[in-house]
Order: sequence, then structure tokens, then C-alpha cells
Amino acid sequence: MGNEDPRASRARVPRRRINSDYRLMRSPSAGLVEDSYSAHFHLRLSGSTTDCALPAEGLRMSLEFSHQPVLLNEVVRVFADLSSGVIIDCTLGGAGHASTILASNLEIKILGIDQDVEALEHARSVFARWPGRAEATYGRFDQVKNIHGGSTFHSDPVVGVLFDLGVSSYQFDAPERGFSYRFDAPLDMRMDRTGVAVTGAEYLNGAAEKELTSLFKENGETRFAARIARNIVANRPIVSTFQLAEVVKEAIPAFARRSGGHPAKRVFQAVRTAVNSELPVLAVALDESMQLLAPGGRIAVISYQSGEDRIVKSVFRDASTGGCSCPPGLPCGCGAIPTFRLLNRGAIKPGNDEMAINPRSASARMRVAEKLSNPQGGGANVA
Ligand SMILES: C[S@@+](CC[C@H](N)C(=O)[O-])C[C@H]1O[C@@H](n2cnc3c(N)ncnc32)[C@H](O)[C@@H]1O
Repeated sequence: MGNEDPRASRARVPRRRINSDYRLMRSPSAGLVEDSYSAHFHLRLSGSTTDCALPAEGLRMSLEFSHQPVLLNEVVRVFADLSSGVIIDCTLGGAGHASTILASNLEIKILGIDQDVEALEHARSVFARWPGRAEATYGRFDQVKNIHGGSTFHSDPVVGVLFDLGVSSYQFDAPERGFSYRFDAPLDMRMDRTGVAVTGAEYLNGAAEKELTSLFKENGETRFAARIARNIVANRPIVSTFQLAEVVKEAIPAFARRSGGHPAKRVFQAVRTAVNSELPVLAVALDESMQLLAPGGRIAVISYQSGEDRIVKSVFRDASTGGCSCPPGLPCGCGAIPTFRLLNRGAIKPGNDEMAINPRSASARMRVAEKLSNPQGGGANVA
């Protein structure tokens, strides 16, 4: 997630607060158009709400969460028929998915994890509606085993795990968080602002030119990665979102600026991914959470970037084949033992209806796997 489109700032309108309602389909919220990242809760700017307030460009804007959980119907369906136990929501955010699961399956408890204390604060207020059934914990999701072990629900079977990767709209649309080139702000970009990670500015001012070139290439800026990296280094220190956007724009030849959205889109996404170590922690977190799952338990992962989806696909493939190395089409003779089965052949994508209501869902890809109750050798397991 984290791409953006300049149309978004023009199209943003106040929207209804729906966070704790159980709605499998939400009513359309008019036109917040930002490209493909998981826009689950949006800032509502108004003078009357008091959830949170920050100064930006001379204005005081009150911020209120509202949710657009992506693939909500599909997520609820994955967990609908699970028997009693706990589902770990590793990317709790504003508890949009979590609260809907709590409302839809009364046997289920939720252990939510997030590294953003503002999101946790909001999630806890949502969870107040289900006393004893939900807990929101600060932490990074590659610590899921420890977090589960220290939680109130440590002795409940883990029947489900959910990842809804990337940043939320709340983070993305708050000018002071520095995720967006739509607002001039210090280049922060940390999901966790408790002081652990370096900011976007610190990262860009400390990284070698070669490292930046590779980062931009890996994140899809193949043609001009080296030029952009060179211009960033030449203009250090980089301190603000607008400065970075300008430096990127300058590095891209005029003819190429006319297509493909805002020229800084991919660079902002790449820097955010690096600042928050988004890809390195994912494989560890998937592995830990799949170990925690009880037999018959399910894991669903929604990703928004090809890099994330590649990791999910590879971890799920290994689990569902046991790492089988036999030639395709022949019976497995290598002794590999699959431990999961895939519940879908490909990824689940949002339908046209959802994309029309929430354009930010467009790049979402969900993969789902179920832990086998009785693992046996013999090859790939696909439902
Ligand atoms: C896309 S939002 C989730 C929205 C949520 N599903 C909802 O319906 O409201 C992703 C959330 O995951 C959190 N997050 C991302 N990476 C994380 C990590 N490695 N550890 C913990 N939280 C993380 C972000 O801070 C953000 O709040």
C-alpha cells in the first residue's frame, strides 16, 4: 500500500463513521480516490470532532477514524465457520476487520497487534463493545509468538490469523506522519513513532547512492532509479515531503513525467517500505503465526504490493507442498510432508463493486491457507 494519486486531496469528503457496525457491505462513500493501498480508515476533517487534533498549514483539523476494510466479506467468510478460539489480527489498525469478525462469529476472540499507538487507541475504543473478547497489543508482528504468549488469550487455541499489510488511510492521510506528497511535512514515514525506527529523512540522508538505486529498482522505478538516487544524494539533507517530491520530479525527464501518475509515487512507497522494514519482517511473521495455528485453523493475508505477495505466495507454496522437489505431474517420492492446504488456487481480488466504492482496494490480493489436521506425504494440497 502507499501509492497515492493527487486526485485524492480534491476528492476527500467527510464520510460516515461505521467502524463498529456489522456491515458486510458498506454504503458507498463518495470518491476518496487514491491509488491502491489498503485504505481502511480515512481521516474525516471537520471542526466538530475531537478524536485527535493536529496543526497543518495553519489549520487545526480534527481527525476521526472511519473504516473501509478491504475484502471485508471475503475475510469474514474465511473465519465464519471456525469453532471457538482466538484469531490474531496482526495488523489491527482501526479494528475494522476485527470488529466485523467479532460481530459475525460469537465463538471468536480477537488478539490484535499494531505498532502504531494511535491505531491501538482507536481499536481499544472499538473493542470496549466486546468486553473479555478482544485485546489490542502494541508490537511488531514478527513478535507474534511472544505477544500471544503474554496475552490474556494465551491458552485459547489460535484458530485464525489475519494480515492486512501496509499503512492505513489514517496514517497516510495525516499530514504530520509524512507518508504523503500531498502535504508538506517533515519526512517521517514511521508507523511506529515510539523512537525505534529511523525516519524517512534519516534513512535517505544516511543511505548510500547504490542502496537507494536498488531500493527504487526493486520497487518498480526501473528506468530512472539511478538518476533519482543521484539527485537525492546531491540535494541532501532531504527534510520534507515536498522537497523529496521535487527532487524526484527534477530527476525524471520531462517527457516521462507526463504518464504513470505522480512521478514521486513509487519513490515514496519504496522509502516507506524501507523505513518500516516491511518486507524483511513479513516472512518471519508468517512463519511464526503459521506455527501458532491449531489444526484446521486458517490464515488470510491481504497484500498490496507485488513484493509482499511474492513472499506470501512462496511461504504458502512451501507449506502446502512441504517443499516437495519432485517433477510436476508425478507422484511425490521425496518424502515432503505438506502442513497446510491452499483454500484458493490464485489470489482473491476485490470485485468491481468494491473497487467502485473503494478505489484504494484495487491492488489488494488475498491468499488463504488452512492448517492440516493430519499432515501426510504425497504432494501439493489445493482445495
Ligand atoms: C492496512 S492497516 C489495517 C487496517 C485494519 N485491517 C482495519 O480493518 O482497520 C495496517 C495496519 O498494520 C500496522 N502494521 C503494519 N506493519 C506492521 C508490523 N510489522 N507490525 C505491527 N503492525 C503493523 C499498521 O500500523 C496499520 O495500522
